[in-house]
Amino acid sequence: MGTVVDTAKKEANGSSLSEKKITVVFVLGGPGSGKGTQCEHIVQHFGYTHLSAGDLLRAEIKSGSENGAMIQNMIKDGKIVPSEVTIKLLQRAMQESSNDKFLIDGFPRNEENRSAFESVTGIEPEFVLFFDCPEEEMERRLLSRNQGREDDNIDTIRKRFKVYMESSLPVIEYYNSKGKVRKIDAGKPVEEVFEAVKAVFSKDA
Ligand code: ADP
Ligand code: C5P
Ligand code: MG
Repeated sequence: MGTVVDTAKKEANGSSLSEKKITVVFVLGGPGSGKGTQCEHIVQHFGYTHLSAGDLLRAEIKSGSENGAMIQNMIKDGKIVPSEVTIKLLQRAMQESSNDKFLIDGFPRNEENRSAFESVTGIEPEFVLFFDCPEEEMERRLLSRNQGREDDNIDTIRKRFKVYMESSLPVIEYYNSKGKVRKIDAGKPVEEVFEAVKAVFSKDA
């Protein structure tokens, strides 16, 4: 409402974003819990645009950007890239899209991601879709994913599980305390998981 903070937010937001009423659903869950797989189905049925933070970071490495080497090293080590980098990629993707409904997959991954996104964009998620999956199942899926990813090896997978437990679960807890989490049993076959996802979107979105 014309405060200095609002103006700063609008500037950081970019004019097209702040003028649009944006709906964001955060899609969270451990590595290999099926976020990307389910997002593809949600896009088909509910008209959202899917933005995977990990995919955007991998594209940034490929584009030869000056941050590429830093991002590549962090991904190889299972670490969370500084929010500044990831948020810029997410903002750019939202601004370039003509859609106003986004699934943001794999973000926020830690408290820094969460608070920075909120203060920079002013956007709060409609709800958080949380794929809850046993670690042994996630490990099996990652080891057979076969997409040539440098982080789908057992050493990096263990590091990613540790980061997930220590840094990402607290973010899910934060949203849970605000009543925003829709938890899905993600250890089942893809079609069964999607039935549960459909029920959430038919009700909440
Ligand atoms: P995430 O994006 O959460 O890391 P993905 O969607 O990439 O997970 O899924 C990881 C791997 O597991 C992929 O090879 C995918 O085909 C497979 N997968 C996804 N969902 C299921 C499921 N419900 N049951 C068995 N395999 C699955
Ligand atoms: O979600 P995905 O499995 O594609 O993420 C792969 C890696 O990308 C993560 O392990 C992390 O190194 C990086 N990443 C990140 N910040 C995010 C999302 C992903 O640093 N918000
Ligand atoms: Mg993914």
